[in-house]
Amino acid sequence: MGLRGDNVLITGVTGYLGNRFAKRLLKETDTHLYLFGRSKKGVPFEQRRELADLPHKERITLVEGDLHDCAPLESLAKMVDEIWHFAAITSFSERLHAQIMDTNLHGTIRLIEVAKGFTNLKCLNYISSVYGCGLVGYPAVIAEEPFAQAKRRNTYEQAKCYTEHILASTALPYRIFRPSIIVGDSETGLSDDKTVYGAATVSYIAARFLREKSDKLGSNIILDRDVINKNINIVGNTDARKNIIPINEVIDLMYGIRERSKNLNNIYHLVSNEGTSLETMNHAVNKILKFNGIKLVDHLGEDPTHLETELNELMKDYVAYMKTDDPIFDDANTMAIMPEYKRVQMTPSLVEFLFRSFFTNYAAQLAKRYSLIEKMME
Ligand SMILES: NC(=O)c1ccc[n+]([C@@H]2O[C@H](COP(=O)([O-])OP(=O)(O)OC[C@H]3O[C@@H](n4cnc5c(N)ncnc54)[C@H](OP(=O)(O)O)[C@@H]3O)[C@@H](O)[C@H]2O)c1
Repeated sequence: MGLRGDNVLITGVTGYLGNRFAKRLLKETDTHLYLFGRSKKGVPFEQRRELADLPHKERITLVEGDLHDCAPLESLAKMVDEIWHFAAITSFSERLHAQIMDTNLHGTIRLIEVAKGFTNLKCLNYISSVYGCGLVGYPAVIAEEPFAQAKRRNTYEQAKCYTEHILASTALPYRIFRPSIIVGDSETGLSDDKTVYGAATVSYIAARFLREKSDKLGSNIILDRDVINKNINIVGNTDARKNIIPINEVIDLMYGIRERSKNLNNIYHLVSNEGTSLETMNHAVNKILKFNGIKLVDHLGEDPTHLETELNELMKDYVAYMKTDDPIFDDANTMAIMPEYKRVQMTPSLVEFLFRSFFTNYAAQLAKRYSLIEKMME
């Protein structure tokens, strides 16, 4: 039995990954897509801007709904034969504990319950995360196997871990994909503004603040002590190596596994073959911003400046990741299916290209973010 369907349900199509994957299926296959999504900020689902440039609209059916209620999907029981579940809250914030559990864990359970009624279902593809492994001791290799017991850093990780176990305990045919930290496209530089780009935003704010305020020294702007002459301390470890992978590589690997895999119920790591240090990323950002002031420290001193306090607050959900090396994520299952795939090498010049693209593409949003922080500092 082939594992590819002709009628594919995709959740999370307005997101970074789901959108790219839907475009790939529309461009390179004849599948019909059922896109499950919601209205947001008063914009109905069908008018969401993320749907505007999807090609082959004649092969798309929109199903408006929310993971809090998957009932609208029940009518697809005889139509849909393959599911790709991307939708999730992608935040590490503990303030969102209840929402993350309700969407990422219980939302997926609701989807699974509906999928049990899909009579022709060939595979439910679930997008998890390698960080569902939690904090592990070193040296550690994380295999493409069910996550073991470990201390998880946050609700996001916990929900990924629980969800995988629940999916695997059903009788549904499934695949689990575990990407690491997804960055921009290695060819175009196009990215979202999360994870490493969230950290780059903090450098941007620091650089601009110090530059603009130092120009006005002597004016009536009240500054916190000697903020101008100091490094900005941000909690992290400059030597920590993180696994970052370009989005085009993630999509190629997912698509390739969909095309070729003959086995069900496997786990696939979608990871880079080597880690990138925070030093490499910080160096690239400093070079682009012409600013050398960010210093990664083990902990904030007793008397941080106001600016340091604000910037570290922005970074607080990432600290647990910025202090530790990632383990090695074994990707033998993925590479067994894609042995000749030409991996993208995460060189310092590619890292610089990706951050430069981010600062260019998000210039307007960065300026807005800066103004907000500037107001808080007045
Ligand atoms: N990006 C990464 O670095 C990364 C790494 C590892 C794993 N992953 C996983 O990959 C998947 C996709 O990530 P992403 O980066 O594309 O995320 P994203 O850009 O934040 O998109 C999340 C998607 O989920 C949808 N969604 C959230 N809550 C929903 C709800 N209650 N009902 C219906 N849809 C809902 C969002 O819809 P709205 O637009 O309406 O909010 C959006 O389409 C996630 O499961 C994520 O955990 C991502």
